Formats: sequence, C-alpha cells, structure tokens
Amino acid sequence: MKGNLKGIILAGGTASRLMPLTKVTNKHLLPVGRIPMIYHSINKLQSAGIEEILIVTGVNHMGDVVSLLGSGKDFNCKFTYKVQDEAGGIAQALALAENFAGSDPVAVILGDNIFEDPMSNYLKDFDGEGAHIILKEVHDPQRFGVAEIKGKNVVNIEEKPQSPRTNMAVTGIYFYDAEVYNIIRKLKPSARGEYEISDVNNHYIESNKMSYSNMQGWWSDAGTFESLEKVQKLIEEAPPK
Ligand code: G1P
Repeated sequence: MKGNLKGIILAGGTASRLMPLTKVTNKHLLPVGRIPMIYHSINKLQSAGIEEILIVTGVNHMGDVVSLLGSGKDFNCKFTYKVQDEAGGIAQALALAENFAGSDPVAVILGDNIFEDPMSNYLKDFDGEGAHIILKEVHDPQRFGVAEIKGKNVVNIEEKPQSPRTNMAVTGIYFYDAEVYNIIRKLKPSARGEYEISDVNNHYIESNKMSYSNMQGWWSDAGTFESLEKVQKLIEEAPPK
C-alpha cells in the first residue's frame, strides 16, 4: 500500500426517511443489533488495522456523536471529527477530509452501510492509488449507484437510475487516493442539489483509475425502515466479521 491508509466514516444527512426515529437523534446512533449503527463501521476499520478515523456528521447531532464515541481510546483508535454544515451530499462530506488525510489514501464507509465481510478482504485489492469500489448484486438497483462492467473494468456508474442497466449496486465502501479532493472541487451539484459520490467515481473511471471487487457476504444499507429491519435480521443470522 502506498501511504498510510486512513479511515473516514460519513455519518451526516437528515435521515428524513426514518422519521420520527431521527427527529431528535442521528440515524447512525440508532441501534443495529446490540450496538449503535456507527459502531459497525468503526469495528470494520479498526479490525482492518486502520487506527486514524475521521467522523463527519452534521451540526445537529455532533454533540451526541462525540459524547458516545469520545477520543477513540475505548476502540483502540484515534478519532477526529468534522462538521458538515448542510446536507450537501457524500462528496461534499468527503471533501472535509482533505486536511485530515493529507496525501494518504482513504477508506470511506457510509455509516449506514452494514456488511458481513471483513474489510481486509478488500484492502488487498487497493494499492493506495486511484480508486476502488465494492459491488453487490441487488434486486432493487434503482435505489443505488449502479455499475456497468465490461470485462475487468467498471465503465460507468449511474446514480439511482429509473431503468438500471445492471443489478450491480455500488456499495458505500470506497477507497481513494489523495486526487479525490481535486476531483470533488470540480464537481457540480446534481439535479437533487447534492455533490454525488457517483460523479467522483465516474471521474476515476474516465481516467482509467478505477478498480472493483465483488462483495461476497451480505450487505445492506439501513437508511429506510425496510432496510433497517432487514439488517437487524441479517445480523442475527450471520454476525458481521
Ligand atoms: C448513496 C450513494 C449510492 C450508493 C449508496 C450505498 O446513496 O449515493 O451511490 O449506492 O449510498 O448505500 P444514498 O442512499 O445515501 O442516497
């Protein structure tokens, strides 16, 4: 690996799809299994040997997030926190990591993505340069970024397409080199007014610097009532590794 891989957990957003559960708290503090949702992302990064972790969340619940997690010493990690002032998308949140990560590569987890595989499964496929994404076949691709593959390459990603060309969802686990901040600076907001992570990924695809792996174990987001319920069952059946 080129550089010292750092971790980033994106835990912002308004979580309007989970109201009223998220009226007075952050989605990532809700219980998933017997622990708060955000512990799952921390555990994944920590068990892959990533100690320096940046947590990005909104102004409303930063106090609660810090009260829960502290400095990171209980997790054998070092936490840094950054506030995302408004919910302007995943790429906007990731831009806040620039000073934290410097020239080092980053492993990014969307805090509502829960998965079975150990993170180390994917680390071996990322050498610290370019970008790497993890794909998973789903039955409802229109809810996600959807990847089109030709041979060993991802050739295009469409964000929440109405008529998806494949059923390969782009999961919320991403690896980037430090070029990612220059890419984000050039982005324009999408039709929904957000800086989209799929636009970032398409930039890497255009410059032939994107690789991918397939997720073997189960994966789900937990941002809707249906998916949150599904995750609770998956965790009981096969706890995350
Ligand atoms: C985000 C991304 C999408 C990705 C998904 C994974 O969507 O924009 O590309 O497939 O996370 O959970 P969201 O559901 O946060 O809008």
